[in-house]
Amino acid sequence: LELQGLNFNLSEEHLAVKEAARSFAQDELLPGVIDRDNEAKFPTEQVKRMGELGFLGMMVSPEYGGGGMDTVSYVLAMEEISKVDASCSVIMSVNNSLVCYGLEAYGSEEQKQTYLTRLATGEIIGAFCLSEPEAGSDATSQSTTAEDKSDHYLLNGTKNWITNGNSSSVCLVIAQTDREKKHRGINCLIVEKGLPGFVVGKKEDKMGIRASDTHSLLFTDVKIPKANRIGDDGFGFKFAMTTLNGGRIGIAAQALGIAAGAYELALNYSQERRSFGKQLFDHQAIQFKLAEMATKIEAARLLVYKAARLKDEHKDYVQAAAMAKLFASEVAMWATTEAVQIHGGYGYVKEFHVERFMRDAKITQIYEGTSEIQKLVIARELIR
Ligand code: CAA
Ligand code: FAD
Repeated sequence: LELQGLNFNLSEEHLAVKEAARSFAQDELLPGVIDRDNEAKFPTEQVKRMGELGFLGMMVSPEYGGGGMDTVSYVLAMEEISKVDASCSVIMSVNNSLVCYGLEAYGSEEQKQTYLTRLATGEIIGAFCLSEPEAGSDATSQSTTAEDKSDHYLLNGTKNWITNGNSSSVCLVIAQTDREKKHRGINCLIVEKGLPGFVVGKKEDKMGIRASDTHSLLFTDVKIPKANRIGDDGFGFKFAMTTLNGGRIGIAAQALGIAAGAYELALNYSQERRSFGKQLFDHQAIQFKLAEMATKIEAARLLVYKAARLKDEHKDYVQAAAMAKLFASEVAMWATTEAVQIHGGYGYVKEFHVERFMRDAKITQIYEGTSEIQKLVIARELIR
């Protein structure tokens, strides 16, 4: 499988990245993955290793401490890591494709020197804060405010569901400065942890990706220097949207990895388990499930690679990213459910991993824009 015969023009370097991510996932993420999920334990050691191995700033230019790799390399690594541990891959995805990408593409030289250099090496990790208790899909209706006080901004409000909420040192926070200008009056501020008035709220007790830390963040009169605004005044919403276009490719790759990880386990299991005197695989009903899983996963893979390739070629990838995320996340939910079915009762217990994949798959249909929002994005592009 995996683009057999076609190879999607993957270079030696691409294949080496894929292999490095695969062995890291098997050797260092697989041990303990069930316990970290059970205990909702943040993978501190594993994230540190991801930094050392260059997985936290893959696409950042070497000038700022990154790997200087393309988006195709990034999705290959995301896929392999997600085949084993989707909690680690969401931490990786937010740091790479939202925080590092956003800073490198739109930050000032000073912001890059101060923050990007440390984020790209994994010395610190970042968070991307758009969602609020009352503003998820409807992201323009921001309640958090960044009041312009001439030499600084005064930040007030609450962000919800923030991945890396507790573990991050730097947060990119979207907030409304001028309400009359609607979404063109929104800014993105770089906010450091530890500032007076900045409190990390409660940790969410989640269905899946349980080892990642999702928190609300609370801001009360937090003073942010003007130099920490990304881009021109009023650029914050456009910043969030363009950054999320690339982020969605990362989450699509995560969904692809979750689906492929569950499929590989189901295929192996079907050749080990016997019923009615033969291997499960020899029942045509089971073969058909696996054939359909393999087909849909391959289709998802092509969409993910296509979106990544378009981004690398500096072509418009908004619709391709939304299609990849929509399709791969739906495939992930369906394929992981089938993987549990193929495992029978064993699929329903933690030891066999597939129930975790099924729980982890669900979030890929929700974050970085729900499936419904991806359809909205795709439809708008159809008539643009
Ligand atoms: N790319 C670039 N610009 C975009 C864009 C895109 N995909 N989508 C919208 N915009 C721009 C528009 O061009 C417009 O700007 P101008 O007026 O200057 O041209 C502006 O954004 C507002 O767009 P709309 O008028 O279309 O606004 P809307 O309110 O009708 O719809 C939306 C906007 C597409 C639904 C948007 O709110 C959205 O994407 N919502 C989902 C939010 C989301 O994905 N959140 C993820 C949070 S991060 C996360 O989840 C991380 C994680 O889990 C790990
Ligand atoms: P709502 O917007 O209230 O949507 C509820 C339902 O209505 C959904 O099914 C939605 O698709 C549907 N719906 C809404 N509007 C429409 C419409 N116009 N047409 C059709 N259907 C519609 N956010 C961040 O900013 N940073 C993060 O790091 C981050 N990490 C997250 C991690 C986790 C584990 C979770 C659960 C969420 C995270 N999020 C993060 C937030 C996530 O992006 C939002 O939950 C998501 O965008 C949906 O917003 P909502 O939860 O408010 O749902």
